[in-house]
Amino acid sequence: MTASDNAPVPPVAKELLGWYASHARDLPWRAKPGRAAPDPYHVWLSEIMLQQTTVAAVKPYFAKFIQAWPTVEALASAAEDDIMAAWAGLGYYSRARNLVKAAKAMAGHGGFPDSETALRKLPGVGDYTAAAIAAIAFNQRTVVVDANIERVVARLFAIDTPLPAARKAIRERMDAITPDQRAGDFAQAMMDLGSRICTARNPQCLLCPLSSHCAGQLAGPERFPVKPARKAKPQRKRTAWWIERDGAVWLVRRPGLGMLGGMRALPDDGWSARGDGTGAPPLAGRWEQRGAVTHVFTHFALDLTVQASLNPAIPDGEGEWWSLDKIDAAGLPTLFAKAARRAMSD
Ligand code: ADE
Repeated sequence: MTASDNAPVPPVAKELLGWYASHARDLPWRAKPGRAAPDPYHVWLSEIMLQQTTVAAVKPYFAKFIQAWPTVEALASAAEDDIMAAWAGLGYYSRARNLVKAAKAMAGHGGFPDSETALRKLPGVGDYTAAAIAAIAFNQRTVVVDANIERVVARLFAIDTPLPAARKAIRERMDAITPDQRAGDFAQAMMDLGSRICTARNPQCLLCPLSSHCAGQLAGPERFPVKPARKAKPQRKRTAWWIERDGAVWLVRRPGLGMLGGMRALPDDGWSARGDGTGAPPLAGRWEQRGAVTHVFTHFALDLTVQASLNPAIPDGEGEWWSLDKIDAAGLPTLFAKAARRAMSD
């Protein structure tokens, strides 16, 4: 027994852990409430996948990854191309590249680091992810604040400073209500409360186990967290080139660094760079428009016109002919998968 075993449990934590015992979401990377911590590999993989991505979108990818690579050692010795292809469609591809680097670092150094500070040194693991893994996989008392928790805490304490300045107060409040024991369950209970009850719109205060502690409920919970004034996303208009010959399309590999780095793609006129794009097609000759697709990235919205070559030939530069029958196996990221569907549907 340690001194912290006797520390009083903050009332909010007590209430919430009671609720969690019967309302926890059953997620494939999780342990049941109050049980031994889950496999750190599962926790790390899920937390990386869940960055900026919903639970529903992550579930099939998580299942695919642990089936293909059941341990961090298996992941570390996999071909990077296979990992990138398995990640296709999940977005934010630098996560997959960092996943490979982190797996190799861990496999070479005897497995998972178990402290927040050491976890933070892994590629792709930021402050939130290090705190979440340390709490969930290693039962350490860390202060875990993701977007759901940020909302719950801002409401619970009616924090009316706008984001991002409010983050300091939110963190301090979360620290004050985090229990010494079961910090992982507590963090996940806060996440579940945020995704099921204390939702961004139409929060279900009548069902909330924390309503008697909640200052925001009276003030109108939807006011919190107070958002900063929003800027509209810039809109870019660019072109992807569809070069099809003998039942195959010309695909390129994007440069390793930068947006969708290392992924297979259609040739394009530079949509991921600022400025106007070069506009120059990769082949001389005539082109016909095959429609356009839109895709919203974090910092801009893209309108990508698909132009198909009317005199297809091998363009300059590296690339490969990819059979249209097997286009689903090319691991195209969502933007280019949409563009390919558009080109093939005309
Ligand atoms: N989002 C990020 N991490 C999560 C977790 N462990 N459970 C549910 N949602 C999450």
